[in-house]
Amino acid sequence: MQWLVRGESQVPRGHQWLTATEAARASTMRYTKRRNEYLLRRYAGKCAVAAVVGHPSDAASLGRIAVLNRVTGAPYVEVDGRTLDMDISLTDRAGWAVCLVGPDLRAVGVDLEIVEPRSDGFVRDFLTPAEREIVGGASGSDGHDAAANLIWSAKESALKVLRTGLRADTRTVEVVVAEPSSVSRRTSQWQRLSVVSAAGTFPGWWRRDGVFVLTVVAAAGLADPPQALPDSADLSQAEPVHSWVDRPLVE
Ligand SMILES: CC(C)(COP(=O)(O)OP(=O)(O)OC[C@H]1O[C@@H](n2cnc3c(N)ncnc32)[C@H](O)[C@@H]1OP(=O)(O)O)[C@@H](O)C(=O)NCCC(=O)NCCS
Repeated sequence: MQWLVRGESQVPRGHQWLTATEAARASTMRYTKRRNEYLLRRYAGKCAVAAVVGHPSDAASLGRIAVLNRVTGAPYVEVDGRTLDMDISLTDRAGWAVCLVGPDLRAVGVDLEIVEPRSDGFVRDFLTPAEREIVGGASGSDGHDAAANLIWSAKESALKVLRTGLRADTRTVEVVVAEPSSVSRRTSQWQRLSVVSAAGTFPGWWRRDGVFVLTVVAAAGLADPPQALPDSADLSQAEPVHSWVDRPLVE
């Protein structure tokens, strides 16, 4: 399993790196935030796939890779029109995107969050009783919020594995982490988690990079944490970017 980070400032100008389908889809997006996020996720996805299959990452080569969506919204990849036999997952937050590439077609999920305030109402409404206990017992400077965002992120990753996304009740998946308080420490080290669902227990990993918390979950496998692909941006140094605020509508 491999992962790659890209930032909004790295996204190429122009459309050469997109397929005609991707460019057409982007052109329907009138809100800058939505379009920027779509393009950033495409760029992270294409760069990750190019690195994994051994293609260059110039615009023309990236244009041979299509990052498409199934009816569920789950992504899949075509290279020169042929479906790639690896599952991928995409996420972005505040100008930074992550692509996780599986070793095969086993479903994978990734989710990136910022450690931001999460209210008691949020914790009560979206987390299970056992998860609420984890949040309640978290220590550290930003312990409550860090634990709540970690659990939320792992839920989103698991719901991507299940292909339901937030169509499902978030309490149908339960996150288990051994040492949630350590999410307050910006260690950039992978640590284990698991997610219990009706479909079984999924293995996963999490890490705290600066203000970000990242989780990965897979249907099976994941004995080792994901490996960073070459030239991946460094989330531990990444500043959140909200460039769309100055220009909310695409002109
Ligand atoms: C999956 C979901 C929770 C992620 O939302 P988010 O946290 O705001 O966004 P993230 O940046 O972390 O992830 C977005 C990516 O999740 C992936 N994704 C979307 N739906 C997915 C699903 N059902 N299963 C797995 N992955 C999914 C996509 O790759 C998407 O990026 P893309 O559209 O550019 O390909 C959310 O999109 C969702 O609940 N989707 C299903 C419900 C829905 O309304 N779908 C719209 C129909 S297409």
